[in-house]
Amino acid sequence: MSADNSYHEPLESALKHALTYLDQLENTSVSAQASLDELRTRLSRPLVEEGTNAQQIIDELVSDTSGGLLGTMSGRFFGWVVGGSLPAALAADWLTSTWDQNAALYACSPAEAVIEEICGAWLKDLLGLPSEASFGLVTGCQMAHVTCLSAARNAILSDLGWDVERQGLNGSPPIKVLTSDQHHASVNRAIRILGLGTDCLISLPTNENGQLSPLALEEALKKYSPDPLIVVLHAGDLNIGAYDSFKELIPMAHSHNAWVHVDGAFGLWAAASAKYRHFLEGVEMANSWATDGHKWLNVPYDCGYAFVRNSKAHYNAMALKASYLVHDNNARDQFNWNPEWSRRGRGVATYAAIRELGRRGVSSLVERCCQYAHDLVTQIGALPGVSILWEPQINQGLLRFHDPKSMASEADHDDYTDEVISDILQSGEAFFGGTTWRNKRCMRVSVCSWRTTDDDIARVVSAVGEIISSKRKAFSEK
Ligand SMILES: Cc1ncc(COP(=O)(O)O)c(C=O)c1O
Repeated sequence: MSADNSYHEPLESALKHALTYLDQLENTSVSAQASLDELRTRLSRPLVEEGTNAQQIIDELVSDTSGGLLGTMSGRFFGWVVGGSLPAALAADWLTSTWDQNAALYACSPAEAVIEEICGAWLKDLLGLPSEASFGLVTGCQMAHVTCLSAARNAILSDLGWDVERQGLNGSPPIKVLTSDQHHASVNRAIRILGLGTDCLISLPTNENGQLSPLALEEALKKYSPDPLIVVLHAGDLNIGAYDSFKELIPMAHSHNAWVHVDGAFGLWAAASAKYRHFLEGVEMANSWATDGHKWLNVPYDCGYAFVRNSKAHYNAMALKASYLVHDNNARDQFNWNPEWSRRGRGVATYAAIRELGRRGVSSLVERCCQYAHDLVTQIGALPGVSILWEPQINQGLLRFHDPKSMASEADHDDYTDEVISDILQSGEAFFGGTTWRNKRCMRVSVCSWRTTDDDIARVVSAVGEIISSKRKAFSEK
C-alpha cells in the first residue's frame, strides 16, 4: 500500500466501528462486563518483531476491548461526574488527531492558536467571568487547579517581595490554603505538586447545605493573617453540588489579602442558565477559577479550563522563552498560559461544542441535566426501602438503600447500599457510583450527558425498581 492511501483502510474501519458502537449504545451494557483476567488475556498480545497491518489492529482493538468499556457515551451513565461527547465535538476531536498539530504556540499551528483565543473569550462569556481574565486550556480541572494556584503562589508571594519563580519555596513566607472539608482531592494534589505540602491545607467545617461556614473562615483568616493566604471555594462540591456563598466569603477573604480560587469543575456551568445562575452570585469577584470541558460541556477527554484575573501573575508563573522558538508578538502562544509544552489542540473540540450548542443550547443542557437528576432521585427515592439523602439542587443527588432485615444497623444499610449499586451495574441498565457522605454509604446520582432523555430516566427508574423489588422478594422468601 502506498503512503498516500495507507490511512484509508484503518480510518474507514475506525469510522465503521465507531458508528456501530454509537448506534448500539441503547442495547449495550453501560457497565463493563468483561473481567480483568479476560481483558488481560485478550490485550496482552506478544510484542511483535514485525509490525501488524493497521486495519487488523483496529479490528482487533474493537474485539479485544469489547465488554471492557463503560457506556459513558450513553444517556444512562450517571457515575462520578462524566459527560458524553457532542457530535461536533467528537468529530472535531478526530480532526484534531488527523491534523496532529502541536498546539504549543502560534508558530506550530496558527489556526489552533486562534481557535483557543476564541474559546477563551466564549468560555468567559458563557461562565460569567471577567473578560480581562487570562486563561489556559489544560487536561482537566486537576491541572486547572495547578495552573491557577501557580498564579496564586506567584502573586501572593511577590506581594511580600518574594519571587517564587526564581527563589522557589525554600525559606519563603509560609502559605496557608483555607478550604472546606468537602474539597476535592485534586486540590490536595495541586498543593503537593506546587511544593506547598498538604500540611498547609486547613479544612474548615461546612453547614447542613455543604457550604463553607463564614464564621469558620473568618476565624481562620484572622488566625493565619498576615501569612500569605489562598482560599479555595466551591461552585458545586463533588457529592451534592453545594455552592459556597461567594457574595459573603470572597470580600471577607479579600479583606485579609487572600487569593480566592474557585473549584467549579462542573458547577461553574450553572452560570449558563438563567434558572441556576443565582447559585454563583458574586463568583466573578474571585481571583481564579477552574472548570472542565469534559464534564458538563460534553467534549471528549481530556479538557479543562483555567482562568486567572491577574493575567500578569498567570503569565509569570507559566511563561517560557527558548532560543529556538519563533514568536509572533501579535499572537497568543498557548504554552505561556498552561503547564505543558507540546500538547494536543484541545481547543478544537471545545470550539465545535460551543458552536454546536450555542448559548441557548448550553443553558438547555444544564437545565435538562438538573431536571433529570431531580427526576431520578425523587422517583427512585419514592421506591420502598430507599431514602433520599440529597435532593438535587443542580445535577447531583444522593440515595441510600435500606437493608430490609429487622433491626438492621447503619452498617447493614451501608453494605446493602453497595450491594444494590453493584446489582444495578451488573444489570447493565445504568451506571451509578457510590460514596460515603456524612458517614453514610450512598449512591451518587450525577447527570451530565447531552444524550439523557425522558425515556432513559423511565427505563432506569423501572430497572432499579425491579432490582429492589426482587431483592426484597428474595429476602421475604428466605
Ligand atoms: C469538584 C471537583 N473538582 C475537581 C475535579 C477534578 O477534575 P478532573 O478529573 O477533570 O481533573 C472533580 C472531578 O470529578 C470534581 O468533581
